[in-house]
Amino acid sequence: MKIAFIGGGNMGGAIIKAIIEKKIADPSDIVVSDIDTAKQKSIAKELKVKTVGDNAKAVKNVDVVILAIKPQILSSVLEGLRGKMAEDQLVISIIAGATTKTISKGLKHDIVVRVMPNTPAQISEGMSVWTATDEVTTEQEEMATTILNALGKQIYFEDEKYIDMATAISGSGPAYIYLIIESLTDAAVHIGLPRQQAEELVLQTILGSTLFVKQSGKHPAELRNMVTSPGGTTAEGLLKLEKRNLRATISKAVMASYKKAKKLGS
Ligand SMILES: NC(=O)c1ccc[n+]([C@@H]2O[C@H](COP(=O)([O-])OP(=O)(O)OC[C@H]3O[C@@H](n4cnc5c(N)ncnc54)[C@H](OP(=O)(O)O)[C@@H]3O)[C@@H](O)[C@H]2O)c1
Repeated sequence: MKIAFIGGGNMGGAIIKAIIEKKIADPSDIVVSDIDTAKQKSIAKELKVKTVGDNAKAVKNVDVVILAIKPQILSSVLEGLRGKMAEDQLVISIIAGATTKTISKGLKHDIVVRVMPNTPAQISEGMSVWTATDEVTTEQEEMATTILNALGKQIYFEDEKYIDMATAISGSGPAYIYLIIESLTDAAVHIGLPRQQAEELVLQTILGSTLFVKQSGKHPAELRNMVTSPGGTTAEGLLKLEKRNLRATISKAVMASYKKAKKLGS
């Protein structure tokens, strides 16, 4: 599979690494176009891929073009690529909020996959959600699936409306979890635990609890009840969280993020 990346930053770089590690494409079959010449040099040195500073040059003779630039410069990048793409090339966009319609119209090219990945993709533990235009062939859907499997788990949605919803959960979600990790660690230090051990306790508790939900197949409420003895320490802590409206606060945060994702795309 020959792949061109438009933008070799955080997310683009993470995808390139995963693709090479999982042997989906040889470094010699990958070309990265980035405006930043220092980045071009460092990517070429580290990953042994070809690098260029001209987007139109990068998309020549490749099967897949991955758009990994910031939303703010999307329209100028699409304009620069308009008319430069071969008719049967697959375009995969990971740009937050940019709809398949925006990409298709901007490029005048109908074969488009839209993905919302997340940052744990950098260690192949990502969660990507994606959708495709009707013009994407079965073979191209398989190519997209292969690339996304290299980043972790992936879910395909026929209806694009779910991508904005997933943006508020799996796209932004790592930031919510990092905030919880930080808060719990700081609280542990506040009551007197040494920071290093506090961090270890928090990370293993979150990891172990997640795996327990997955592997036990039990509802989280059932597992929560198992920890909550009558009149015990956990009940005391949970009461404080409920009194401070943790559930409603999380729900409001997700709704705000979802509204913003929809606004960005409109
Ligand atoms: N990071 C995340 O958590 C995440 C998650 C899901 C989706 N995304 C999406 O992924 C996309 C990329 O995000 P990122 O964090 O990887 O951004 P990033 O690190 O800024 O990477 C973008 C790269 O593109 C380069 N660039 C700027 N203008 C260009 C142009 N005209 N042609 C070619 N390259 C150009 C940038 O160079 P300069 O630095 O010199 O501008 C930079 O190296 C975004 O649209 C974002 O919505 C990100």
